Amino acid sequence: MTQYTNQYYLDRQEACESSARSYPREFPVALAKAKGSWVEDVEGKRYIDFLSGAGTLALGHNDDEINQAMVDFIQSGAPLHTLDLMTPAKDRFVEALFSILPKEFAANAKVQFCSPSGTDAVEAAIKLCKTATGRGSIIAFSGGYHGMGHGTMALTGNCKAKNKVANVMPGVQFMPYPYSYRCPMGLGGEAGTKACIAYFERLLKDPESGITKPAAVILEPIQGEGGVIPAPVEFLQAVRRITKELDIPMICDEIQCGMGRSGKVFAFEHAGIIPDVILMSKAVGGGLPMSVVLYDKKLDVWGTGAHAGTFRGNQLAMVAGTIMIRRISDPAFLSEVARKGEKIITHLRSLQDQVSIIGDVRGKGLMIGIEFVDPKGGKDIMGHYEPNGQILCRVQRKLLDYGVIMERGGRNSSVLRCLCPLNISDEDIDLAMEKFDMAVKEVDADVCK
Ligand SMILES: Cc1ncc(COP(=O)(O)O)c(C=O)c1O
Repeated sequence: MTQYTNQYYLDRQEACESSARSYPREFPVALAKAKGSWVEDVEGKRYIDFLSGAGTLALGHNDDEINQAMVDFIQSGAPLHTLDLMTPAKDRFVEALFSILPKEFAANAKVQFCSPSGTDAVEAAIKLCKTATGRGSIIAFSGGYHGMGHGTMALTGNCKAKNKVANVMPGVQFMPYPYSYRCPMGLGGEAGTKACIAYFERLLKDPESGITKPAAVILEPIQGEGGVIPAPVEFLQAVRRITKELDIPMICDEIQCGMGRSGKVFAFEHAGIIPDVILMSKAVGGGLPMSVVLYDKKLDVWGTGAHAGTFRGNQLAMVAGTIMIRRISDPAFLSEVARKGEKIITHLRSLQDQVSIIGDVRGKGLMIGIEFVDPKGGKDIMGHYEPNGQILCRVQRKLLDYGVIMERGGRNSSVLRCLCPLNISDEDIDLAMEKFDMAVKEVDADVCK
């Protein structure tokens, strides 16, 4: 068989595929093989994958148990596509899914299978809460990411895509999210969190705030695309307390931070809270497309077909997802995620002390962000150097040369994000960190000279 180069495939992609394509611009490669935490391009070069399908591949590429279960299922003659018809595979998946929910939530929970993108789970949840409350507006948070649909984009903080699309869903009110390093209140730390809570509470309770009672409050317990920003526990607890007092459904978007990524099955568990609605996608289908909304029965006012969609019955995703749920919810597995996350953060903070281009290192479990700054540029209101996406790009490109794939996000695309498989080995972490140090130190020396 003819061996083609990366460039051959990239040229063909550019000729046919929409200019909205994004990852190939960051990682100009064509992938041929993948196993565990590693991928290999068509030229035989291997990379440690700290992107893992934007956090989808919690157990890495081509997990043996998942692959074998899918092969067995295909050979069993079971239907692979069933809309929302019942099957034994679906029954097993739902049982597994309910087994990882907080008990109090599971006792009154309903599940809606959505079209397989996370975006559709968010769309469904918004429709559900609007229908159940009869209200029309939604509260979201700056820096949040909930998808690229007309409704979900309206709930998303990033204005780059929004600026180009007129008339996204109306009725969204943004509130400040406690991003300590670039605190929207100019305070940072505990004082910043307290101010965000006070602002949120005041606006919802002040009869002169101009904000009518919303149908829902939606947030990511750890913002992902916004730059890996874990919400402090007190903030999540306050949002839960206030929304409960005011009878406003609280939606936790766990699409990226859930399924063990934070060291707990759900990131909201760090705060000991229970939301009214939980959104899951990415890893929940064991690496295959799937998205679900789990919600309290009291919201279940939908009539037949209120949220439909053809691809809600992906049986292979249910088979794979059942295995994924069992493996990632094992307490020993979760404590390993937390340990490995701590190990990476400790390493990165020590690197931060040695260079000038890293402004902040933060995260929970294996959801970690490294914010790059320009040490020769201006400072923000907090006294921190401004975020710098160009410096990040140079580090990211060097990393790719050294064989590590790591994606960016955050303000001005200034945050490199570790989203490696949750079962990555210590050896692979060490190797990735070694390469990370090399890339950062080289760019740092150049920037500072
Ligand atoms: C928190 C969160 N919500 C929603 C979405 C949208 O999911 P999808 O890209 O599958 O539509 C994403 C995707 O990155 C996400 O991170």
